[in-house]
Amino acid sequence: MIQELKILTGLCGKYNYASVKEYISLGGYQGLKKALEMKPEEIISEVITSNLMGRGGAAYPTGKKWDMISKLDSQRKFIVCNADEGEPGTFKDRKLIYQDPMKIIEGMTIAAYAINSNKGYIYIRGEYRNGYYRLREAIRSANAAGYLGKSIQGTSFDFDIEVISGAGAYVCGENSALCESIEGKSGRPRLKPPYIKNVGIYGLPTLVNNVETFCCIPYIIENGGANYAAIGTESSAGTKLVSVSGNVKKPGVYEIPFGTTLREIVFDLSNGVENNNTLKFVQMGGASGVCLTDSQLDIPLDYKILSSKQMSIGSGAIVVADQTNCVVDFALMTMEFFFHESCGKCTPCREGNAQLCRILKDLSEGKANENQVRHLENISLLMMKASSCGLGKAAPTAVLTLFNAFKEEFLEHVTGHCRTGSCNFVNGKTAV
Ligand SMILES: Cc1cc2nc3c(=O)[nH]c(=O)nc-3n(C[C@H](O)[C@H](O)[C@H](O)COP(=O)(O)O)c2cc1C
Ligand code: SF4
Repeated sequence: MIQELKILTGLCGKYNYASVKEYISLGGYQGLKKALEMKPEEIISEVITSNLMGRGGAAYPTGKKWDMISKLDSQRKFIVCNADEGEPGTFKDRKLIYQDPMKIIEGMTIAAYAINSNKGYIYIRGEYRNGYYRLREAIRSANAAGYLGKSIQGTSFDFDIEVISGAGAYVCGENSALCESIEGKSGRPRLKPPYIKNVGIYGLPTLVNNVETFCCIPYIIENGGANYAAIGTESSAGTKLVSVSGNVKKPGVYEIPFGTTLREIVFDLSNGVENNNTLKFVQMGGASGVCLTDSQLDIPLDYKILSSKQMSIGSGAIVVADQTNCVVDFALMTMEFFFHESCGKCTPCREGNAQLCRILKDLSEGKANENQVRHLENISLLMMKASSCGLGKAAPTAVLTLFNAFKEEFLEHVTGHCRTGSCNFVNGKTAV
């Protein structure tokens, strides 16, 4: 039976979030102390050796990103911790923000020292109001104890962190929209290139990493990159936080070593499907993630293996649906989210989301014909190809994967039949 491996979450909830003293008594700040005795390039080399991939969704190699930014010749560089966490079903960063904020500060400070930055931002989801206050208090304490601010721990290195609250737009988690929002503009993704590592906040080089990514750094520096790389699988180092929700008996955030399967997460850690119902599908990676059926649950969570199957672990959200869920209903709920969150800047996403919603709504009301159903696929593929940013590219993933796996159930809706009884048909007729 699979167990959690808590190298990242071991201190969660174990200390008063604003107490540097308690954090240190539990082994905190050892990574930063060691880092300040190293050369910046040695730190980056450890992060490269660790094989750490960004945990925000795109799985970009963290060491490589740091290395590129560290080599840019610029008087000022910014660091941003992406704590926007707006993907439905994703709540793993919240655990670190609320229960171990000092580790985020420590990870960011090491990164700032490594790339030569003096200014950091934590961009936090607007709904995490208490998290915002906790982070600000933790920052104030770290400042007072000499772990932030001027001459950190007696060195010549200065670093400050400011916390910025988002205003509720999912797209602001996208790194260029996030830079726009920090500058005080409307949070819309920029056209790329140039990439934000070169031209970020106020046109200056900017390092953006996810909360979980920064939290991996103290362990890597304290224990060495090779030690970290030895955890997990050859192509996916370390552990991953997953947030499990939906029809499971024990939802929550779990820290698993890479190589763990979805079946182990759902049936061992989360105690299986609620009411001992039959599992219908699992959505992996949040609203923009693939929907997998029972026969696909033994695939190990590993970046290389998943990518060879055109899948991704994304943000680490795992939503479980049992047999009482209607696939049309689920697809419609997902698309309504993206329709609402599209920033409207480019046509394939703005119009594609609207059209998918319309067809799915018609289907759920028993008004769609087979021709319209076939359009689901065409529109989805077009959006994936032609949308400007990751939101539009990934929005139709659930529709496409559900349609491929449950075509018959989709088509049944054309004849006014919903096998789960969830859809509201015209003429007062509900499911048969
Ligand atoms: C629509 C959209 C929303 C995103 N939301 C988040 C988010 O909430 N948190 C996050 O870390 N990354 C998010 N990302 C990914 C970021 O653009 C970026 O890749 C990430 O913050 C980089 O950090 P990492 O290298 O540590 O993964 C989002 C991307 C897109 C396209
Ligand atoms: S893909 Fe969607 S969210 Fe992204 S820029 Fe285009 S309209 Fe905006």
